[in-house]
Amino acid sequence: MAIDLSTVFTGLRFQNPFMLASAPPTESDSNIMRAFEAGWGGVVTKTIGLHPVINVKGPKTKFNRVTPETGRISMEKRAGATLHSSWNWELISDKTIDWWIPRLDRIKKAFPEKVLVASIMAGSGNDRELKHWQDLAMGCQDQGVDALELNLSCPHMDRPDMGSNIGKDQQLVSYVVQVVKEVARVPVWAKLIPSTTDIVIEARGAFNGGADAISATNTFPSLPPVDPDTLEFEMNVEGLVSYGGLGGPAIFPMALAKVTQMCQAFPDKSFSAIGGVSNFTQALNYFLVGAGTVQVCTAAMLDHAIGPNVIRDLLAGMRAFLERHAGRRWRSLEDFRGLLRNRIVPHSQIKRPDTKEYRGGYEVHEGYAEPQVVT
Ligand SMILES: Cc1cc2nc3c(=O)[nH]c(=O)nc-3n(C[C@H](O)[C@H](O)[C@H](O)COP(=O)(O)O)c2cc1C
Repeated sequence: MAIDLSTVFTGLRFQNPFMLASAPPTESDSNIMRAFEAGWGGVVTKTIGLHPVINVKGPKTKFNRVTPETGRISMEKRAGATLHSSWNWELISDKTIDWWIPRLDRIKKAFPEKVLVASIMAGSGNDRELKHWQDLAMGCQDQGVDALELNLSCPHMDRPDMGSNIGKDQQLVSYVVQVVKEVARVPVWAKLIPSTTDIVIEARGAFNGGADAISATNTFPSLPPVDPDTLEFEMNVEGLVSYGGLGGPAIFPMALAKVTQMCQAFPDKSFSAIGGVSNFTQALNYFLVGAGTVQVCTAAMLDHAIGPNVIRDLLAGMRAFLERHAGRRWRSLEDFRGLLRNRIVPHSQIKRPDTKEYRGGYEVHEGYAEPQVVT
């Protein structure tokens, strides 16, 4: 039986389930076209807004590295240190919708068989702001994009009605999705932040609003490390720093937990998993808990800006995995997607040594009454 790397996600056919996430690798038409030539199945554009943004002075992204012998995490480049994470405080695209419109059209015409997703962001404080979401959605879909990803998760917005401040509020999430769905003719994905108490709540808000999929996660709120000699944050502007976003290998286990929580709560819904993917072993984790596509940012940034080697390894890894499991008659993602989704259980359901039982912290009741478990 022939191996098939293609998949269908939110009704769209992907040549393979691997995508570049919204970030510097997808900040221009030339990058996106190079990415498609390199083999990525889909691309989410850098987030597009209506108005220009002004980024901080100096670098917007740096990479933390860890020295294996000492465990020191630092942005300082040193021999023998391995990648720990990316740290960024970059805003959305510094090019507005007017710049993007002809380019989206050009990309889609050049690569009709690839999936082009437009990431968009606006405010949500009043009807005028909400209308901006619709303007962005219609502007992008008129150029032929295959789906819209709503950035409800940018962690660097001061405005209380923008970015992750929307993503933290299930009602606003629901409302913004609904407003976009009113005009959307293509699938709408909602991109969520990981730093809330329970991401299932915001995911429910998005699905209630009509979202076709959730993309998660965006970066985790974090600070750069302090230099022990200068006593300054390793990334700062005139001594000052702000909370930024952590991506890359360090966030993989945490993002996996967030994606799993949603896949368990909504087993029939679609999830595009993001966080710490650099090769097929991490992507496989996300597929096994139920994700239908996987997005990559940090690893691609460090590989010729658009990840030609990363996508080559992802494709080779998936092909080798399916060949290894040919005996189980697995030939495509759907044959193993979600296989481990039900293996994550409450702590008390994990076997104790010998015959000892554990009742989740509740006392064993006398007589016949079972302990009441409050959920
Ligand atoms: C420099 C940088 C810029 C980013 N810009 C955006 C953005 O404009 N919109 C967005 O939705 N996510 C943005 N992200 C988040 C990524 O798309 C992704 O969710 C995150 O980096 C986690 O994936 P990773 O572990 O593969 O890096 C950005 C990330 C980085 C590192």
